[in-house]
Amino acid sequence: VTLRGRSVAIFNVDGKLYALRDSCPHRGAPLSCGVLTGGSVSAPTPGHYVYDSTRRLLRCPWHGWEFDLETGQSWIEAQRLRVRSYEVAVEAGEALLDANIELADISEGSSMVPGPYRAETFDISVDGAYVVVDI
Ligand code: FES
Repeated sequence: VTLRGRSVAIFNVDGKLYALRDSCPHRGAPLSCGVLTGGSVSAPTPGHYVYDSTRRLLRCPWHGWEFDLETGQSWIEAQRLRVRSYEVAVEAGEALLDANIELADISEGSSMVPGPYRAETFDISVDGAYVVVDI
């Protein structure tokens, strides 16, 4: 959706809502065209990979950089990039959530490093039949 001139990508993953600015901080690709995937975690031995389908990573459609859907944190080995993310919840009524969220460290046990960039994120909620994005 476009809200006050800003493109916001809203994702509904198994009933949980996420909102990210629809612009990759690398070169501006529309993240709404990205692919949702899981992520790898540390493996017991070199050359082996363990796939964690519970991680919510969004892969940019242009160059494949991956961002945590909830925090916007990028996870690119040896590079540092972050997309800004927004805390999202479904609330009955107009309760809004605090946009100041802590960076989730999903790198524990991983060789991936967090990046310095963060895409703009927005509070989002559901009010009756409407999805409400607070810009
Ligand atoms: S534009 Fe997203 S990774 Fe390059």
